[in-house]
Amino acid sequence: MIFHLVGARPNFIKLAPLVREMDKNKISQKIIHSGQHFDKMMSEVFFKELGIRKPDFNLGIHSGSHAYQVGQTMIKLNEVLVKSRPEYLVVYGDVNATLAGTLVAVKLGIPIIHVEAGLRSFDMGMPEEINRIVADRFAHTLFTPSVDANENLLAEGISEDKIHLVGNIMIDMLQLSLNQITGDKKEFSEYGLVTLHRPSNVDDRLTLTSIIDALRDISHHIPLIFPMHPRTKINLKKWRISLNSSKIKITDPVGYFDFVSLQRHAKFVITDSGGVQEESTFMQIPCLILRENTERPITVERGTGTLLGYDYGLLETKVEEILSDQYKMGSVPELWDGNTSKRIVKILVDGLGQ
Ligand code: UD1
Ligand code: UDP
Repeated sequence: MIFHLVGARPNFIKLAPLVREMDKNKISQKIIHSGQHFDKMMSEVFFKELGIRKPDFNLGIHSGSHAYQVGQTMIKLNEVLVKSRPEYLVVYGDVNATLAGTLVAVKLGIPIIHVEAGLRSFDMGMPEEINRIVADRFAHTLFTPSVDANENLLAEGISEDKIHLVGNIMIDMLQLSLNQITGDKKEFSEYGLVTLHRPSNVDDRLTLTSIIDALRDISHHIPLIFPMHPRTKINLKKWRISLNSSKIKITDPVGYFDFVSLQRHAKFVITDSGGVQEESTFMQIPCLILRENTERPITVERGTGTLLGYDYGLLETKVEEILSDQYKMGSVPELWDGNTSKRIVKILVDGLGQ
């Protein structure tokens, strides 16, 4: 029996294709949701749209400090794992559930499978970097999305035989979905799409104010659609920062199909999301990244991404480049082909009996 542990929006999108492929191969599995993301549009909508069965366990931890989230997840997960004793625990990406799951499983002697291993921003100020490093350090099997991830793991002394380059599992879901998504009518015929949720951008009042000012400037060139993450919404409200503009349409977070459709038809994306960097590279949509570094350098070196840091002048310049068709073209990295979950399951099936 294999258990999956997920907690936050990007996890659900990585979970869906793997559960589907494991079902096809009759591997018995159960899903544990830590409950970190709990709003309908941050959680349930993905289970429904992506056809993931209801989690077998929901630990219901909700929001709080990192210590609270990790601590609560550890305590509640420990109870589940002690009772059920799965053969493996699969953890995804770099969220707090990934860290908590790793610590609990390694102490119980349950082998950990880390999906999306090896990514590094080399920025220890980023909570996810710590989560990734711990998960990779203790994982029994590490599935990586790109060559740079293998290099990072080898440089940290992780033994090569544990590492499997399988490609990007987010692209599995994206490929499956692109066939189902139609070009719905959008509010604007041409627009840029915005998502923001990194603490480094939205938890600092001055930074958030500057970003909002920059978005207002961009909206004079082209309207923007901004499905807003709850973290960002809470902070804008707290600091009474107003984004009133007829050229910026703010919505609640949207479901996956709607988001992919918005992304596919956008002139560009302005984002600090890891997953959106990857999806835009795959769909060849220009991606302006409001971060100083990225754990996904391939989206900048090979894909359509540009790291802008806090240079909002450059943001405007890049938007102008895009609108005048001067922006770079990208290419899709190897193994971002929709078959990552198949490769993972093949490795699991071949190795499980040993
Ligand atoms: C988490 C992940 C981050 C990931 C992001 C994806 C960690 C350390 N961070 O950050 O890596 O990129 O998810 O979206 O695990 N909130 C709601 N409703 C919800 C979820 C959150 O209102 O359904 C609010 C919470 O009250 C909280 C804020 O949003 O104040 C932040 O939520 P939290 O889960 O702590 O972190 P994220 O920023 O979502
Ligand atoms: N996404 C979504 N609805 C939204 C915003 C994003 O479905 O309103 C999807 C997006 O397509 C991608 C994933 O959420 O698959 C990215 O998650 P997020 O940006 O929250 O986290 P990160 O990837 O930065 O960890």
